[in-house]
Amino acid sequence: MGEKAKIILSEHEYEADVVVGTEGEKGIDVIHLRRDTRNVVLDPGFVNTASCSSAITFIDGEKGILRYRGYPIEQLAEKSSFLEVCWLLMKGELPNTAELEEFTEEITTHTMLHESVREFYAGFPRDAHPMAILASVVCSLSAFYQGDVGNPEDITYRNSLRLLAKLPTIAAWAYKKSIGQPFMYPRNDLGYSENFLYMMFGVPAEDFEIVPEMVDVLNSLLIIHADHEQNCSTSTVRLVRSSMANLFASITSGICALWGHRHGGANQRVVEMLQNIQKDGGNAKKYIEMAKDKKSGFRLMGFGHRVYKNFDPRAKIIKEKCHDFLKAIDCKDPLLDVAIELEEAALNDDYFKERNLYPNVDFYSGIIYRAMGIPVPAFTVMFALGRLPGWIAHAIELNADPKNKIGRPRQIYTGSTERDFVDIENR
Ligand code: CMC
Repeated sequence: MGEKAKIILSEHEYEADVVVGTEGEKGIDVIHLRRDTRNVVLDPGFVNTASCSSAITFIDGEKGILRYRGYPIEQLAEKSSFLEVCWLLMKGELPNTAELEEFTEEITTHTMLHESVREFYAGFPRDAHPMAILASVVCSLSAFYQGDVGNPEDITYRNSLRLLAKLPTIAAWAYKKSIGQPFMYPRNDLGYSENFLYMMFGVPAEDFEIVPEMVDVLNSLLIIHADHEQNCSTSTVRLVRSSMANLFASITSGICALWGHRHGGANQRVVEMLQNIQKDGGNAKKYIEMAKDKKSGFRLMGFGHRVYKNFDPRAKIIKEKCHDFLKAIDCKDPLLDVAIELEEAALNDDYFKERNLYPNVDFYSGIIYRAMGIPVPAFTVMFALGRLPGWIAHAIELNADPKNKIGRPRQIYTGSTERDFVDIENR
């Protein structure tokens, strides 16, 4: 018999099963708590709530471990390609050569956007935030594929391929719109990362020169961002999908959730913060003091994590890649020195030590994006490109789960009790 948990209520005792995951983590199964006791669980921010069981990604936040389908992130970032990781996340296993070739072919041949989509870009102001464009255009794809027929799994899979294929084009065109350059159509002779860089930085008037180090670092960054179990955007995708919304609408909701600076939007804020520190004479200590002062409203961007109470393993890899990449392309970015100084100052400060606050995935990624020539407002778009297969994998997993229900949290009502309507002249 498995372990049980007891909840002592004034009227009676409630016994619940303890569910154990494959890595030994435990959860108290309270699925029938309200039915049996009329009590709900109050857990703002879902700090203790597992909303589902999932076989996609494992994190041990205390030890700083991250694995996709059992494979350590360090190995995947070093040895794998982004499309291989997409398959792994979506299907559960690494693809063999034939599977990877077919998958790559499918994605490569779906990179173009319907010509009518191009017209949407004309309607956006030139200074539109690229995340606004990304979310709007992704959602608009629902309108182009609404007549798709077949069984629901096949439709979801086809739409997954479309999303993976088209998101780089959508993202690159948002950048081209902002600088007034012609949109570059995708090229089927290029790999996933190369094609994205071509559409971002190529121009019709010149040949495009591929920088292999840039392709490599982009491939690794996409892999590192590819999934992170039930984070805010993935949970949002699952919630929206649980209502049976179409995949494009569900992914759009994930893009919107990612945008905020407590989540993926932090990468833009990190670089803006480093620029401010630099303008301020490189005074890292001043910003550490500000972050410690709750009244300042300022937090050290790219620091802290809900799950990691140790080094974020992604931050470790990215920091190393950042040094290597800048060296390889012979780029000296003074913001890297500011970041290193700030990190050191924070890691040696009792406030950050006591709260286990370490650099997260967003702390160094922006310095790599800057060196690649990606504009700061597009940093979160880069995060979205990487996270897309994770969102898709979770949507697929949710649909396949026979226990899946519409996501519908409860609340504890704290408003006024019943009262009679007051006519306007008496208010
Ligand atoms: N700077 C200063 N203090 C911080 C920071 C920070 N970056 N992060 C957390 N704290 C403090 C916080 O004030 C609280 O202190 P106290 O116990 O005295 O009230 C304590 O640490 C715990 O923080 P919390 O807000 O309860 O933690 P959380 O799990 O709710 O929030 C977080 C996690 C990532 C939103 C938060 O650490 C944060 O705001 N970090 C900065 C934004 C950021 O870098 N976000 C990217 C997250 S990683 C990638 C991703 O998910 O997209």
